[in-house]
Amino acid sequence: MTSLPLRIRITAWYFAVLATGFSLFGVIAFYAMRGSIHETVDENLQDQIQGVRKLIERTSGKAELEHELEQDEEIRAGSDLLQVSDPAGNWIYRSRTMTLYGPAAPREARTSITTQQPNGVPLRVLTLPAQAGGKTYVVQLAYPLDDFYEALDRFRRVLFLSSPLLLLLASAGGYWLSRRALAPVDQITLEARSISAQNLSSRLVVPHTRDELQRLSETLNGMLERLEQAFRRITQFTADASHELRTPVALMRTRAEVVLRRPRSEEEYRETLRQILEDLQRTSSLIENLMLLARADSGTEALQRAPINMVECVGEACLEGRTLAETKQISFLEELPESPVWIEGDSNSLRRLFLILLDNAVKYTPPQGRITVSLRSSDGCAVTEIRDTGIGIAAEDLPHVFERFFRADRARSRETGGAGLGLSIGQWIAQAHGGTIRAFSKPGEGSVFQVQIPLAGEEENAVGSKQ
Ligand SMILES: Nc1ncnc2c1ncn2[C@@H]1O[C@H](COP(=O)(O)OP(=O)(O)OP(=O)(O)O)[C@@H](O)[C@H]1O
Ligand SMILES: [Mg+2]
Repeated sequence: MTSLPLRIRITAWYFAVLATGFSLFGVIAFYAMRGSIHETVDENLQDQIQGVRKLIERTSGKAELEHELEQDEEIRAGSDLLQVSDPAGNWIYRSRTMTLYGPAAPREARTSITTQQPNGVPLRVLTLPAQAGGKTYVVQLAYPLDDFYEALDRFRRVLFLSSPLLLLLASAGGYWLSRRALAPVDQITLEARSISAQNLSSRLVVPHTRDELQRLSETLNGMLERLEQAFRRITQFTADASHELRTPVALMRTRAEVVLRRPRSEEEYRETLRQILEDLQRTSSLIENLMLLARADSGTEALQRAPINMVECVGEACLEGRTLAETKQISFLEELPESPVWIEGDSNSLRRLFLILLDNAVKYTPPQGRITVSLRSSDGCAVTEIRDTGIGIAAEDLPHVFERFFRADRARSRETGGAGLGLSIGQWIAQAHGGTIRAFSKPGEGSVFQVQIPLAGEEENAVGSKQ
């Protein structure tokens, strides 16, 4: 069933619902009509039988009763379908038509109303006991139902014959309607099929019908928008990555070509090789960073999670940070708590994150400046702050510092050798731990980078990691 086209399935459902509806209607209408016929006939019989009962009760004995019944036209005027018997079933009176139809004598003197069909004619028979001369008699009055039943039968036949035809017509209508209703879906499918990587900026035509189809087109357009953005980011990343790689490779090539142009002293060769080696180191670290981001994007960079004492982890990063700071005459302060701060995470990745921040702090702080590293636990998070008194970041650059290849001052960064990937990697690490990283800065005064990682056992309530 599920492999059938939707319009066929809708029509089939329509048919099934309609068929059930028709059948229910037929059965209910049939029984309701029959019930109402019985009710009308029963009321009539009740009215008439009271007269007969009164007459019987006026008589004094069997002989008078027989005589009265034979004589009294008035009694029989209401109905010629009357019979009276004693409780043993012996006839006192039986009208001619009643003899013809022949309903059986009652077995007991009890009020009842039944439908009988003794000689092929359906009869509604009302039975009523009556007292006369100290004896009980049983009066029976009947009404033939054949005309009514015939009409009922005709109704049933019409219903049986017309239902399939009506069902067929209604299903054909249903099919036509579902085709009409689903035609825009086919249109959307066709349009969506024509969109590929080459024309990702195309959008589906949105029908302004305020219905599911409008919502579907809008949702698909929203998805295309997100896909286009992701696609553009990847294309941009590839273009930036190749650009960043081309520059050092061109530089190494030039260095080698220049030195080979004429014979050089051993010292000159050594110096060039040393420069090339430096370029190579920078390039291979760039390649390593690019590969890490690519793995992070594809979800293949897995963290080795284990309980970590953040005091130790930050302390280890500070050892390297302090050495870096000292070579630039920058004072380095650590404000780490005595007691351990436990989190669940990957210690290598976290050390890398703090080194990225410390490296930046040293790089963007002039000599005689100060770097302060602090750690505290607050609101279920381990909060690490790296504060510097460096050049700071302009307000318009602040929202972009975590973007790949972003450098506030490209010329200066080139001197310091940065590709603008450090903070993007740092942000990925923080988010992969269910945490956040934020930057605050005042140009000329310094910057603060704050990393929040949920404490062990608090990951479920983690701070929103996406910014
Ligand atoms: N502590 C800081 N003080 C001032 N500016 C900063 C600081 N940290 C980052 N920035 C700015 O943010 C930019 C992006 O930093 P990021 O670490 O991503 O790149 P990078 O340091 O230039 O290069 P990489 O880290 O890849 O070697 C930097 O180029 C710099 O302009
Ligand atoms: Mg950096």
